[in-house]
Formats: sequence, structure tokens, C-alpha cells
Amino acid sequence: MSDAFRTWMKTTQADCEIALAEFLPAATVVPSRLHAAMRYAALDGGKRVRPLLVYAAGCLFGAPAGLLARAAAAVEMIHAYSLVHDDMPCMDDDALRRGKPTVHVQYDEATALLVGDALQAQAFLVLSEGAGDPGSKLAMLNLLAQASGSLGMCGGQAIDLASVGLALTREQLEQMHRLKTGALLRAAVLLGAMAGKQLSATETEALDSYAAAIGLAFQVVDDVLDASADSATLGKTAGKDAADNKPTYVSLLGLDASRQLAQQLCRDAHAALQPFGDSAQYLHDLADLIVQRQA
Ligand code: IPE
Ligand code: IPE
Ligand code: MG
Ligand code: MG
Ligand code: MG
Repeated sequence: MSDAFRTWMKTTQADCEIALAEFLPAATVVPSRLHAAMRYAALDGGKRVRPLLVYAAGCLFGAPAGLLARAAAAVEMIHAYSLVHDDMPCMDDDALRRGKPTVHVQYDEATALLVGDALQAQAFLVLSEGAGDPGSKLAMLNLLAQASGSLGMCGGQAIDLASVGLALTREQLEQMHRLKTGALLRAAVLLGAMAGKQLSATETEALDSYAAAIGLAFQVVDDVLDASADSATLGKTAGKDAADNKPTYVSLLGLDASRQLAQQLCRDAHAALQPFGDSAQYLHDLADLIVQRQA
């Protein structure tokens, strides 16, 4: 990873923080406890991988900064909501997220439920407002809705919860990962590109195969880190998958083979970017980041 990439990453993460802070209601607005909790969940934490993907894909086709900021904030709000609900006692029952107490611990369960609901609505609100061609905005909203719902992230979470204690086949595990994590990462890539232009079938196909590779790689690495890193580094409870009897790539293939799979998926992602040449450098480097990350 080059210095140029690291500088771009820092700047983009800062831009994303500013956009999120602006697009979330102030904590002083009534109901202030809910707004404070939404800001607690979404601001000041996380790697911001999905916003980085939005901006990197936006670079391909010169997308306007204002629309990228809205798309990046929207996808990160959906992600933050998914984490708040994922951590609740009815799901993974986790007390630590992004180095802080989870929302239901810091506030209460009902507030955590509402934070997720409200962040989801806010995501679509933010993306629906502001400048941009109405037709392409509608396509972007449609894509984000599909990626978030029962055929995307929520569907993957349902499979995850129904799979506790089961030995999934590799195909079943891959489907679960593609939905619960891959769908939103794919949406991030396509949203950034669509903010620049109406995509041709060939462009969509190339971006789809890039997104499929990094989407699966991301959750494979999440499984590896859960089994191999510590809670302080991760900012969330390590060892939780094995403790909860969740089927993961580590439980199916072991640590080494999972790491090798992630490397292979990274090469697949790089290969998918070839048609875009140098303009895809940030997407290329993000695939490296996703596979090499330590948290
Ligand atoms: C964690 O996502 C949950 C998964 C989908 C694997 P991230 O690892 O992107 O979490 P943050 O946003 O950096 O906290
Ligand atoms: C969560 O997967 C995926 C979503 C939130 C959609 P995990 O349950 O593995 O995420 P972590 O490990 O708690 O971050
Ligand atoms: Mg989970
Ligand atoms: Mg979890
Ligand atoms: Mg995990």
C-alpha cells in the first residue's frame, strides 16, 4: 500500500466523519436521547471500509463529491444499524463494539432497537435528498434497499442465527457470508460508480466480480480475526464465534486455509479490476487492506 493510498484513506475517512455528523440529527434535537444514541453508534469509530469503497468506485467515473458523501453516509448508516442490532441480546449478545460499550449496554435495549430503525430510515432519507439526477438516485435507492433487506444483509443475518450449532456445507456458508456482509459491500462499490454515470453491462459485471471477491474475503477475514486476534485490538469481543457455536470459515476450513482463501479472493478482486486500468488503483489497494487488516 502506497503513501498516496494511505493519505487518500485518511482524508476520505475524515470526509466521511464530517458527512455523517452533518447528516445525523443533532443530539440537542428532540428526542435527544435517541439522537445522542444514533450519533454514539455511527460516529467516531469503525474502519469506514464501505464509505472508502463508495469513494474509490466514485473515482472511476468522476462522480460528484456531494453525491458520494450522501451515498457513503447512507451505506455506513445501514452498516452501523446492522452492528447495533447484531450486538443485541437477541442476536450475538455482545457488550463491546468499536472499543466502546454496545448501544444496548450504554443506553438500553429499546433504545438500541430504535437506533437501528432510525439509522436505517435516515440512510434512505440522506440518499434521497440533495443534488443528482432523479433517475440515477432512484436506482441507487433501489440498490441499497435490495442489499439491506431479506435478500441481502437481513437475510444473511437470519441464516446466521438459524445456523448456530449446525455444520454448514461450504456452499451454505458462502451464501450466508455473501448476504450478511457481501451484499452491503457490493452496494458500496456500485453506489460509488453509479454516482458517476449510468453503468454499462460490462462495467457492472466487472465491478460485480470485484465486489463478490472482496465481499466474501471481508467476512472470511472477520472470521479469522475473531479466532486469532484479541478484543483490545479488534474493539469487539474476540473468540465469540466459537463460544457461540457459529459456523465460520475457520470452523469449516481452519485458520491457514481461511487465510489462503482470503489471499486468493484478493487476487480475484485485483483481476476483476483490469478493465479499469489505473483509475481503479484505490479499489485495488482497498482489496489489499481488506485482506491484510489486523482489526
Ligand atoms: C463488522 O464490520 C461486521 C461485519 C460485517 C463483518 P466492520 O469490520 O466493517 O466493522 P467496523 O465498521 O470497522 O466497526
Ligand atoms: C455481522 O457479522 C454482520 C452484520 C452486522 C450484518 P458478525 O456477527 O460476524 O460481526 P461481528 O464479528 O459481530 O462484528
Ligand atoms: Mg452476527
Ligand atoms: Mg456479531
Ligand atoms: Mg464476526
